[in-house]
Amino acid sequence: MSFEQAYLNYTLKENYEDIKNIRYVEAVCDDKRMENSVAELRLAIEKMSGTKPEYTADDCGGENAGPVIARICLKINSQMDPEAYHVYAEGDKIMIEASDSAGILYGSFELIRQMQMEKELKTLDIKKKPDMPLRMLNHWDNMDGSIERGYAGDSFFFVNNEMVVDERIHTYARLLAAVGINGTVINNVNVKECATYLITERYWDKVRELSEVLGGYGIKLFLSLNYAAPVEMGENTSADPLDESVIKWWKDRMKKVYAAVPKLGGFLIKADSEGRPGPFTYNRTHADGANMLAEAVEPYGGTIIWRCFVYNCQQDWRDKKTDRARSGYDNFMGLDGTFRDNVILQIKNGPMDFQVREPIHPLFGGLEKTNQMLEVQIAQEYTGQQRHICYLIPMFKEVLAFRTYVRDTYDTVRDIVSGKTFHQRNCGMAAVSNMGNDDNWTGHDLAMANLYGFGRLAFEPDLSAQEIAAEWITVSYGRDELVKETIEYMLMESWPAYEKYNAPLGIGWMVNPSFHYGPNVDGYEYDRWGTYHRADHLGIGVDRSDKGTGYALLYHEPHASVYNNVDTCPDELLLFFHHVPYTWKLKSGKTVIQHIYDTHFEGVETVDEMVARFAKLEGKLPELVFKRVADRLAHQKMHSREWRDQINTYFYRKSGIADEKGRTIY
Ligand code: GCU
Repeated sequence: MSFEQAYLNYTLKENYEDIKNIRYVEAVCDDKRMENSVAELRLAIEKMSGTKPEYTADDCGGENAGPVIARICLKINSQMDPEAYHVYAEGDKIMIEASDSAGILYGSFELIRQMQMEKELKTLDIKKKPDMPLRMLNHWDNMDGSIERGYAGDSFFFVNNEMVVDERIHTYARLLAAVGINGTVINNVNVKECATYLITERYWDKVRELSEVLGGYGIKLFLSLNYAAPVEMGENTSADPLDESVIKWWKDRMKKVYAAVPKLGGFLIKADSEGRPGPFTYNRTHADGANMLAEAVEPYGGTIIWRCFVYNCQQDWRDKKTDRARSGYDNFMGLDGTFRDNVILQIKNGPMDFQVREPIHPLFGGLEKTNQMLEVQIAQEYTGQQRHICYLIPMFKEVLAFRTYVRDTYDTVRDIVSGKTFHQRNCGMAAVSNMGNDDNWTGHDLAMANLYGFGRLAFEPDLSAQEIAAEWITVSYGRDELVKETIEYMLMESWPAYEKYNAPLGIGWMVNPSFHYGPNVDGYEYDRWGTYHRADHLGIGVDRSDKGTGYALLYHEPHASVYNNVDTCPDELLLFFHHVPYTWKLKSGKTVIQHIYDTHFEGVETVDEMVARFAKLEGKLPELVFKRVADRLAHQKMHSREWRDQINTYFYRKSGIADEKGRTIY
């Protein structure tokens, strides 16, 4: 399988004078990250200018040889913050300063990005420090090579139960480092069969090799762990976290694992959810389970990341008090303050499961004494599976900007996960990966904007979604104005359009069972009774107010009152929080049913506009890219109609209310 270089595909820049005289890259290289920084700069400058600068093991002194930029100098400056960098012009050189080699690496990629955008180098002065300490990818790769919710081919980490460390993995590490991602979990959170054995001798050599390759790019390797490993490996009859023999088993195992793979960052665990084993089997809490593992990895500096996506998928939701949305909060809130320092709770952005629109998870602002990480999904499971365009950075911006009101200031989700609110270091953001072994990594070429954007956003959340889009377009496809304008339009309109032709007003789901693609109002596999939308001939929506499940009251004020009251609840979340008649008037002035009809027509119109605009880029993009995107757009055009027609028809038949505008609804 071949692979492309995505945003590291440097091309010759004929008219960019600023890089033409760069002859040297100077640095004292005493570790792999420093060496890789030098190599990255030399490669990029060679490809963009035509001349490969020489490496000199210099300490950035030397005569100032004149007015043009002739050298790049990498220098450790121990006064600076971890991973931070300062890139600036000084005489004939560009200095890249950082307190550590990870910062040097990020500074080098910053300079490369500036060059890709053909920025003036003489005036360069950029100082940055990553906002979130942990910026991670979570791969859901299985060891047989398949990927759970993978939409871009198979795994590049695993083939036939073997691990692979090859050229592609090197490029993977470079792609991550270039956008500041510093951690990755390579295997599925649903750890089954063979993957349980990743913590055994059988895989250690490869795990170590991978941890070293990634480490050279500032990326820590993590593994997903099977909570019941001692039982499943046949070495203990129990996985009770308070049982002495279980505690000892884990301590012994971790001692061996870390002796073999000293650079391992730690483990990610999904427990007691969707059929995965966990401490509930032994009547123990999540804190008991997480702390037992945390103690075992603590001597080696390891971290346990424990997911809050915990619910019983077999539950009978017909009882109107039973609410999946409450589950994460109800399971973890009472445990606040009982987790060890090297435990992080990883919380999905919303209380359900990566729907196109959800409220913010109430554990953000709930938990005050526990390390927290935000989990988002760039694998577009419910947002078009990388066949539809759905640029998710605008959604992530909204999530990060959400004020929790847990404090008067510094209370947004961003403040919490960057450590400002509760002064934490073990915090950050993780994205479920959208990559696979397709040539272009992400299936849809434009889905790469989500990987790029996630990394850039976690590093610099002040960037706007539009700035990130513009930057990605330029570094990937050059500076052509029409290309930039068109793709920027497509990206920025994509999430709103998808939301319009999808499930309406925050209600979510309405997808085909198991593979979760395509419209099916009553289809979702864990919704056997229509309880996820509660639509009947009179109305639709789930009552999560104090008269219903009470979920709305899990937020701090003013959110609790705003969501609880049907008159103040924002339109886009109305059906998530309230059950209303189809004739209910939204703040927009439209009835719910008319809103459903109108938005479904509008969403399709936007897709048509994207198709028309994109057609004009023929000849301006690499032929293959143009063709691949055009093919997917043709599918999106057809499939968005399927969404429109199924949803509109369902609600027309259910409600018996005609479209005011008299359009054809089949
Ligand atoms: C979703 C997804 C599953 C995944 C789960 C999780 O429910 O459909 O495939 O395992 O999320 O986040 O653990």
